[in-house]
Amino acid sequence: MLQHRVVDQQVLLQWLERYGHWNNISELEQLTNQAVAQLRRTRSQRAANSSWVRRLQVGLDALLLTDQLEYLDMPDFDPERRVGIIEGLHRFNRWVFAYQRFYRILKPLIQRRILEQGRTVRVLELASGSGAFALMLAQQAIQDGLDVEVTGSDYFPEHVEACRLKSSATGNTVQFQVLNAFDLSEVTEDAYDLVVVTQSIHHFSPGKVAMMIHQSLRVASMAFVGIDGQRSLGLYAVVPTAGVLMRAPDFIHDGVITLRKFYTETELELIGRLAARTDHVNVRTAWPGYSVLTVSASRAC
Ligand SMILES: C[S@@+](CC[C@H](N)C(=O)[O-])C[C@H]1O[C@@H](n2cnc3c(N)ncnc32)[C@H](O)[C@@H]1O
Repeated sequence: MLQHRVVDQQVLLQWLERYGHWNNISELEQLTNQAVAQLRRTRSQRAANSSWVRRLQVGLDALLLTDQLEYLDMPDFDPERRVGIIEGLHRFNRWVFAYQRFYRILKPLIQRRILEQGRTVRVLELASGSGAFALMLAQQAIQDGLDVEVTGSDYFPEHVEACRLKSSATGNTVQFQVLNAFDLSEVTEDAYDLVVVTQSIHHFSPGKVAMMIHQSLRVASMAFVGIDGQRSLGLYAVVPTAGVLMRAPDFIHDGVITLRKFYTETELELIGRLAARTDHVNVRTAWPGYSVLTVSASRAC
């Protein structure tokens, strides 16, 4: 309901033409920020001649959109409470079977890569948080007979430390490392096949997401896959209720801001196409409330 596909898709090509020329990564960041801001600013003008329902959706969405920081994004926020929010998100993910869903999204790509290359498929997860998805991915791949090597990572050392403890406690082979998703310069070219990021894209500005995709396509020989919540009204009934059930006020605070920050699928497509400078970009909805952005490395097409 908050996707504005009809309104936004009309101008996507113009926006790509206007903002698609950049020479270095800091220009990419700036231009992508401008492109998404401009797409949003002019949305109500484009909706002016459409039905009242569409105008209402666009107006409501403009009110919901926010720049407010989540606690998770405040550099000085108490590390213990930060870990508490990540654990809350992990519980929520388990309740809604999010990890299984993410695995089902990635599995066809992994299977295709195994068929193409006949060797271990290497997956790097950025912004792993609790690390639970990286661990589950590795375990499930073994059960399914898929030859996969998983590396998890996060910017905050306290998360990485907690992930390492979990990995060794469960006898898992997943390695975790501290990695800034916007600076992958230390990672060797084509060191991985897939770079994956779940439920984190909305934390980052459009320009930062573009930087992350651009750099991921250097280190991943196959594709970048970003999975995030879908911008919709439906999730407003689910996420705060889960926070109340968990009696987790920090989770409710961050959860509500999250819903207000999710990108629309056209915005994700615009960011992906600006970053990759190709049209090997696919955005789709995944039940029950996710948007999946896949950007293929051009050497994989
Ligand atoms: C909402 S959590 C998502 C965690 C996990 N992927 C999940 O699906 O449950 C966002 C994560 O992004 C991480 N993060 C924030 N800035 C980052 C950066 N620059 N590089 C890597 N990770 C970052 C945070 O530490 C946090 O773990």
